[in-house]
Amino acid sequence: SGNVAIAIDGPAASGKSTLARILADQLGLVMVNSGAMYRAVTWKVLREGVDSHDAGAVIRVLRETILECGDDGRYSTIKVDGIDPGDELRSEAVNANVSAVSAVPEVREALVALQRDYLKRASVVMEGRDIGSVVFPDTPYKIYVDADEEVRAARRRDAGELDAVSKRDAADSRRATAPLMVADGATVLDTSDHTIESGVAAAIEILKAQG
Ligand code: C5P
Repeated sequence: SGNVAIAIDGPAASGKSTLARILADQLGLVMVNSGAMYRAVTWKVLREGVDSHDAGAVIRVLRETILECGDDGRYSTIKVDGIDPGDELRSEAVNANVSAVSAVPEVREALVALQRDYLKRASVVMEGRDIGSVVFPDTPYKIYVDADEEVRAARRRDAGELDAVSKRDAADSRRATAPLMVADGATVLDTSDHTIESGVAAAIEILKAQG
């Protein structure tokens, strides 16, 4: 298809979600939050009372779950067995277990397929950890968003996020399958000294240079 994918990867609290949302709005593309898909599977795993570190049990839950990934014209939406979990996707319990669930290769395989389906329907800005490296390795448009540890700590306090984000980042970076990394061809954008506006402007310049 002639659809275009812009891949935005980076650690938690780097500013990638804000950047992805504004880019999608400005460019008229659909913004897809791939983290919500890993969170949705984790939400179901916890609901079933399954240990997130028991990969076999996680895979069984995955097989029994109906994930409906769509969009409202601007942003991705998700339903788990017909239910939108809403804010529960961002609960402390999900934060604490999502890295274990997302390290299971079968989970990644299923969700990567659903992520690629989006591009068959529309041009997208997709944010995550492995969008430039695994989901859309052939797109020329790849930004790896980063920020200093202190800046990220302040941002997650502002966001009211109380979990050990650095633990999650460490797990996401060290896993065997699709670890968080700067993808081949990606440009690193450090947002530490940027305002939201100047970060968006810098991202637009990067995308122009990549196209
Ligand atoms: O982006 P967000 O912080 O909501 O992602 C939650 C978790 O989902 C990450 O910590 C990571 O474990 C997993 N994830 C992933 N690959 C992606 C997006 C998210 O493994 N593309």
